[in-house]
Amino acid sequence: MRELTVELGERSYPVVVGAGARHRLAGVLPRVRRAAVVTQETVPWAVDSGVEQQTFYLGAGEEAKTLASVEDLCRSFARFGLTRADAVVAVGGGVVTDTAGFAAAVYHRGTPVVHLPTTLLGQVDAAIGGKTGVNLPEGKNLVGAFWQPAAVLCDTDTLATLPPRERRSGLGEMAKYAFLGVDDLPDLSLEDAVAACAACKAGVVGADERESGRRALLNYGHTLAHALETAGAYDLRHGEAVGVGLVFASRLARRLGRVADGRVAEHERVVAGYDLPTLLPPGADADHLLALMARDKKAISGGLTFVLDGPAGLSVVAGVDEEAVRETLAEMTA
Ligand code: GLY
Repeated sequence: MRELTVELGERSYPVVVGAGARHRLAGVLPRVRRAAVVTQETVPWAVDSGVEQQTFYLGAGEEAKTLASVEDLCRSFARFGLTRADAVVAVGGGVVTDTAGFAAAVYHRGTPVVHLPTTLLGQVDAAIGGKTGVNLPEGKNLVGAFWQPAAVLCDTDTLATLPPRERRSGLGEMAKYAFLGVDDLPDLSLEDAVAACAACKAGVVGADERESGRRALLNYGHTLAHALETAGAYDLRHGEAVGVGLVFASRLARRLGRVADGRVAEHERVVAGYDLPTLLPPGADADHLLALMARDKKAISGGLTFVLDGPAGLSVVAGVDEEAVRETLAEMTA
């Protein structure tokens, strides 16, 4: 079992990684009388908080990540008698930790939350760092809050039951850490890899909680990935889209003279090594993807904006030439 800390002064918290980490729940709960466990019917993991607990179920899939779900949860918490001196426990993937985390952030103006991410994507990214929120019909994650958990328990036992595609999706998010300073990632055991990625994320969040600088680098590969997901026309899970986005970002960096061929080959090797796609899906519409990328949150002031590799490592690059982006998309067409 590994334990690391997200260092945020008096809001610092532990991230425990390992087989059976869920059994640490009672030990990490702040002194509480009640725990509201939030999960989905599809999550096969029960937890024991050691105090009076009630379980509340979100609806199925990403569709459950709505303000309506947050209202339902808060009303259920109130009927249960939950107070700010109690805790919410989120057990599941990113939909659960994002939605329950946001409900915890606003219930009684802030109630402690413990995350038990049961997906690879949740364990290496979504559950760590305090980003919570829900979707609007107008876009993903448009309403949310920074609300740091009291603890994150990454039980690697839960990864054994993941459907293969869900696991692959997590590997895409994991692949990005190979370019954020986690060495030899593909050679590590799953538990070591989760711990190394979690430690990397903890370090970034500790240095830049509110994304005024370095935390934006965690979006490496995500500009194209979000465009592919938003387009809705391609059969890609989040991590699969990130895999394509990582290779695209490296090819764009090469086109802009920031990296050499070897670095692109390294991106392709890592992404393909996780059995993730390295080319655009068949029929990809470059004009539509370009329009969506121009609307990316990072691009507010600087035209087309990407996290790109370069001689000094990753950085946010604004005002990228549209033609370079178009040509890079063209070279990635199967
Ligand atoms: N998933 C990116 C972040 O937490 O900042």
